[in-house]
Amino acid sequence: MSVKLINDRLLRALRRQPVDMTPVWIMRQAGRYLPEYRATRKQAGDFMTLCKTPELACKVTLQPLQRFNLDAAILFSDILTIPDAMGLGLRVVENQGPQFAHPVQSREDIQKLSAPDIDTDLRYVMDAVRLIKRELGNKAPLIGFAGSPWTIATYMIEGGSSKQFSRAKGMLYEQPALAHRLLEVLSQSIIDYLNGQIEAGVDVVMIFDSWGGILSHDAYKEFSLSYMEQIVDGLDTGDGENNVPVILFTKGGGLWVEAMAKSGCDALGVDWTVDIGAVRKRLGGRVALQGNLDTAVLYSDPMMIRKEVAKVLASYGEGSGHVFNLGHGIHPDIDPDNVAALVDAVHELSEPFHSGG
Ligand code: CP3
Repeated sequence: MSVKLINDRLLRALRRQPVDMTPVWIMRQAGRYLPEYRATRKQAGDFMTLCKTPELACKVTLQPLQRFNLDAAILFSDILTIPDAMGLGLRVVENQGPQFAHPVQSREDIQKLSAPDIDTDLRYVMDAVRLIKRELGNKAPLIGFAGSPWTIATYMIEGGSSKQFSRAKGMLYEQPALAHRLLEVLSQSIIDYLNGQIEAGVDVVMIFDSWGGILSHDAYKEFSLSYMEQIVDGLDTGDGENNVPVILFTKGGGLWVEAMAKSGCDALGVDWTVDIGAVRKRLGGRVALQGNLDTAVLYSDPMMIRKEVAKVLASYGEGSGHVFNLGHGIHPDIDPDNVAALVDAVHELSEPFHSGG
């Protein structure tokens, strides 16, 4: 936005402009590994009330920044707010994950779906963004996000989390036209949703394609990437110095980074299975990269964490264009002190990689 940020490392790295240190934030940084999050969730009563109460969503968004030297805040919400607003009825059950009261099971269920109205059905998300921006001031940028159409569709079809994705993947081969109809409605909804977040003030947007990696080579392009391309095209990101960078993240997408980078996005999130330096070379610096420490490193101790952070930094190498993160979301049983060690190690150990200006 127009306010100059005191800490603009994230935006500079996403634009591949020089930085003093590598910026770092953590996927799922506001979550159950923090006792203060668990207390606020208890106060809310349940997860969706936490998401739907802007004051509480704001509070948990800011909690990790009060504890750690993070270079960004991420809106506290969920990728499943869109299907909830479409009338599927989302509950997040303790230790069982998300569950829909009304999953989409038939042709009619899909045919009657329509894009939710962002200004009414999802107003609580935009209110949370406005409140967070006000509370955060110019201290750090705020990341907004949405799920990818394919990833959201898996939850809508399966009714919740899944191991085999039998119904969702089955639909791609049994009823491809119906799958496309669902992905089409979701893409339009996500464009409206992210444009709403941008209008409300987010500085960056990220698309989480958590389940793109379970698709075959052809199916990934047809059912996941092509819709993310439509979304990138449809976003009002502005241009020049004040644009809103877009990050695409397909978990398990290491084989497809060249195709993903052509979408028009500014950065790719990469998971822990790839060598980030090798990905940088494959892409020739066309986009920034975010990642990719194995989350399991956080089960060790500060010495080992420093060693593994140093490896990721060395693999990426000199210069800007790197946003440090985990390769996927943090787990609830990780010790917050190890997150502090990680964040400090990234800042300290990355300085020499930026000394050339
Ligand atoms: O990163 C952040 O701090 C911002 C908030 C955020 C949440 N979910 C909060 C949340 C973000 C960016 C997400 C994204 C999300 N949600 C994804 C994509 C990222 C990924 O992890 O692959 C997916 C697949 C979902 C769907 C979802 N929501 C699942 C699978 C779960 C259960 C997770 C679990 O650990 O039990 C949720 C609920 C959820 N969303 C929680 C949080 C903090 C845990 C809820 C709780 O019990 O308090």
